Amino acid sequence: MQGFAGKVAVVTGAGSGIGQALAVELARAGAQLAISDVDTEGLAETERRVAALGVRVKADRLDVTEREAFLIYADEVKEHFGKVNQIYNNAGIAYSGDIEITPFKDIERVMDVDFWGVVNGTKAFLPHLIASGDGHVINVSSLFGLLSVPAQGAYNAAKFAVRGFTEALRQEMVVAGHPVKVTTVHPGGIKTAIARNATVAEGLDAAALAEFFDRRLASTTAEEAARVILAGVRKNRARVLIGNDARALDLLVRITGSGYQWLFSRAIPRLRPR
Ligand SMILES: NC(=O)c1ccc[n+]([C@@H]2O[C@H](COP(=O)([O-])OP(=O)(O)OC[C@H]3O[C@@H](n4cnc5c(N)ncnc54)[C@H](O)[C@@H]3O)[C@@H](O)[C@H]2O)c1
Repeated sequence: MQGFAGKVAVVTGAGSGIGQALAVELARAGAQLAISDVDTEGLAETERRVAALGVRVKADRLDVTEREAFLIYADEVKEHFGKVNQIYNNAGIAYSGDIEITPFKDIERVMDVDFWGVVNGTKAFLPHLIASGDGHVINVSSLFGLLSVPAQGAYNAAKFAVRGFTEALRQEMVVAGHPVKVTTVHPGGIKTAIARNATVAEGLDAAALAEFFDRRLASTTAEEAARVILAGVRKNRARVLIGNDARALDLLVRITGSGYQWLFSRAIPRLRPR
């Protein structure tokens, strides 16, 4: 992978799944890494794998919802490496439950991590990315940032918000003439721990939903997802879709407009576990 050697890249949620695979792929490509997560065990494993590839790595416990800590962390990373080129705002959580039965606090928690975590990371690092003269913001949305489905209202809201925020930022960097590229990532089903780490509304069977996700929906490996993301970053793509599922459903939405909602509201209840 060309174009990453000597760059300083920041990856949040790097203790598992896509974030861990991104860190390893970036290290293979010669980037120096600042990795973080709330899961310090997973993060230590990522640190070990990245360090084994012979690149400089700084690993820290960071909760992306803690804005003040994120701002301090951004300055520390700049201080440590002397510059920052890329941030992958990847940390995220999943939640299942119809809006009717989902408590406000659960919607807020998903927004806090999946949306505000991305806002915190973007704003904390933007001055450093601009100063680097060669910056890139990579924000991880989802296929569910392109279309909505029943029982994903909170997650859909957060991931649509990430998309809106990131697409505006890309244009703003052009208007301002800042040397910062911006990419939104929309993965389809990726084989990670996301569903096993997810919470659900009362009455739903978390284990059955996780099993359904792992067996039926997760089709792309985290390693492949990381490679697709880095290929998109290298080409400065505005939007990166990952997996045949993401590409096919994106096309469906573009063809049917709002009509996909009619289709999904009839098909999805028959497909998913109760
Ligand atoms: N797996 C998929 O199918 C899929 C699909 C679309 C989008 N995504 C998105 O990809 C990103 C990565 O997810 P993944 O599939 O690798 O899941 P994962 O659960 O394997 O990894 C997510 C990581 O984020 C960390 N994290 C959670 N909350 C955090 C917080 N407050 N602060 C810091 N770290 C936190 C977790 O500890 C975990 O290590 C997420 O934003 C997710 O929404 C995943």
